[in-house]
Amino acid sequence: MSRDPGAPGALKIAPSLLSADFGNLAEAVGEVANVCDWLHVDVMDAHFVPNLTIGPPVVASLRKHSGLYFDCHLMMTDPGDYLEAFARAGADGCTVHVEVGRTGELLQECHALGLRAGLAANPDTPFEAIEPFLHELDLVLCMTVFPGFGGQEFMAEVLPKVSRVRRSLDERHLAADLEVDGGIDPETARAAAAAGANVFVAGSAIFGAERPWEATEEIRAALVGTTGAARP
Ligand code: DX5
Ligand code: ZN
Repeated sequence: MSRDPGAPGALKIAPSLLSADFGNLAEAVGEVANVCDWLHVDVMDAHFVPNLTIGPPVVASLRKHSGLYFDCHLMMTDPGDYLEAFARAGADGCTVHVEVGRTGELLQECHALGLRAGLAANPDTPFEAIEPFLHELDLVLCMTVFPGFGGQEFMAEVLPKVSRVRRSLDERHLAADLEVDGGIDPETARAAAAAGANVFVAGSAIFGAERPWEATEEIRAALVGTTGAARP
């Protein structure tokens, strides 16, 4: 368990707390801490997406219970207003959505705050929207559902975009991670890995399972031989 993000491109599994019991978050983190690589924290502002979840105070509280890398996914119209608060709270990486604009500025601000900078694209946002920023990114997030809720069905039609991002990163010798988020289970994770993803966010497949650590191991087992590296 470590706040080190690991090698870019290595296989990483990031359980999403969105499907955990919000009344027992520290316990939920403890259930996967020894078998996962990152913890994915879904921040929703009830504006960019029609749901409201976790903010900096919850991240700060979780930080007292966990030394994991916190991968914060900011589904917010104005993430710039909160980046500093997330950095102070103990976030390690913050991912903003390209659809909200001011992208160059937001990425610079992440780096200035010592955060790893990620850029997310919704399923219907084309590769061309993220392409100009690739060289500034530590992480590209291709959403495989429309953001807002857990438990939705994986959208296989996003896979060509995932392949395109991977090809572009490789051609330019860029060392960013390529993350997929939404509807990930052992089977869809394999499909996304084949397209070039190396970070796999899973909410309901992990925290909806009876034994979240086993569910995490099952996703990892499904990915062995498809991409990147070994256990954390
Ligand atoms: C969706 C969130 C996801 C969500 C994934 O808006 O960004 O991280 O938790 O949940 P599942 O794995 O259930 O699709
Ligand atoms: Zn997410």
